[in-house]
Amino acid sequence: MATALIILAAGQGTRMNSDRPKVLHEVAGAPLLVHAMIAGASVTPERTIVVTGHGADAVSAAARAHDETVEIAHQAEQRGTGHAVAEALPLLDGFEGRVIVLFGDTPFIRPGTLGAMLAASADVVVLGFEAADPARYGRLVTHGGQLYGIVEWKDANEDQRSITLCNSGVIAAEAALLRRLVAGLDDRNAAGELYLTDIVAAARAAGLTAEVVTCSEAETLGVNTRADLAAAERIFQARKRAEMMEDGVTLTAPETVFFAFDTVVGRETVIGPNVFFGPGVTVESEAEILPFCHLEGCHISRGARVGPFARLRPGAELAEDVHVGNFVEIKNAILDEGVKVGHLSYLGDAHVGARANIGAGTITCNYDGVMKHRTEIGERAFIGSDTMLVAPVRVGARAMTGSGSVITEDVPDDAVAIGRARQVLKPGLSAKLFEKLKVIKASKRKETE
Ligand code: UD1
Ligand code: CA
Repeated sequence: MATALIILAAGQGTRMNSDRPKVLHEVAGAPLLVHAMIAGASVTPERTIVVTGHGADAVSAAARAHDETVEIAHQAEQRGTGHAVAEALPLLDGFEGRVIVLFGDTPFIRPGTLGAMLAASADVVVLGFEAADPARYGRLVTHGGQLYGIVEWKDANEDQRSITLCNSGVIAAEAALLRRLVAGLDDRNAAGELYLTDIVAAARAAGLTAEVVTCSEAETLGVNTRADLAAAERIFQARKRAEMMEDGVTLTAPETVFFAFDTVVGRETVIGPNVFFGPGVTVESEAEILPFCHLEGCHISRGARVGPFARLRPGAELAEDVHVGNFVEIKNAILDEGVKVGHLSYLGDAHVGARANIGAGTITCNYDGVMKHRTEIGERAFIGSDTMLVAPVRVGARAMTGSGSVITEDVPDDAVAIGRARQVLKPGLSAKLFEKLKVIKASKRKETE
């Protein structure tokens, strides 16, 4: 049966104390909303509808940036979760299948959990969890394995508040049934809102069935405050580190490595302490990332060695067996097989041919203050230490540049280019110079006395 997702993301998130809509706050380099979309994508939905309200333009832009097929329903006034679903349902006119309602601020529902909800046979399926501190969550009223209703904390009596089985907010039902039940909601409750949760009691009253699928509390963590956001980051990182190690990646000090939502690392790669991954990084197998690297939007091939203290920025492409050493920054540059950049270099907007050697302190001067320009370095070229490559410029295959050169003109294949002032020698001058300097220093001291 086809599945559609409705992701609720209209709320303001007052407790974030933020100008940004809550669902755009980020965990592991992606907005909360994108995490919810990724979780939902595990059931390969035919349709995905995001309900926007506060900051609608920014929220829909973020949703579309992640998945351009996403549809947007606008909820101008936030009159409750039931109302939000009611605003989305017209987009699903004619859709016959299951609908899963997710919250945009609940980023970590696992694929297996949504699968279990779809496999359940009841007419309405609710995702619940045993809460360590049930606080203000809606309470699930059950008896003999059946779900009878969801009572919001505000509306609950003392007995109901003592229930620890809570509502995560995720609800699944067939589209036709959901339409019928949502149409019947009213706002006669403590919040004066249309509660989506009321569809459970309505279904029971109509002689239909409802059941609870449970998951761990960590999965249903909803982000309401910045402290929750930090907790979500912790949970994400803990999960991702564990997954990486299960997948055959060595993490010397896992608690100090930070991954992005989309980081991919191959088997037998070793990642040292204090490495940070921004979005868009893939590392192939058998690579080595030494301590204190900052990586973002880059690709590292098999057998490459990076760091310590290297920074790879978007568009850095390292082919097999490339070595990038300490205090090297690479941006929008392709390094072919076996290239070595050992120390203190900046390569930006460049292509470096196979097995070229880039000496310490080499810099591509790629920016003239207005435009960016490219540097081409041929295979097996040897760039002397402290070479300034003033782009646009090309150094040919097997060519060499002298240390300290400022290269402003193209260097042909197999040539040597030296672009620096010739050295001048003054025999015996140093002793005289020292004497002169000492006299100057002494006279200065007298002046201040
Ligand atoms: C909801 C549930 C509660 C559950 C809790 C879990 C209801 C009535 N209550 O309560 O049982 O334990 O989540 O976290 O469903 N939203 C809209 N439009 C609205 C209202 C909300 O899009 O008009 C979105 C919010 O942006 C948020 C989600 O729906 O992503 C949940 O809304 P929120 O107000 O946080 O619900 P809770 O009161 O926490
Ligand atoms: Ca909430």
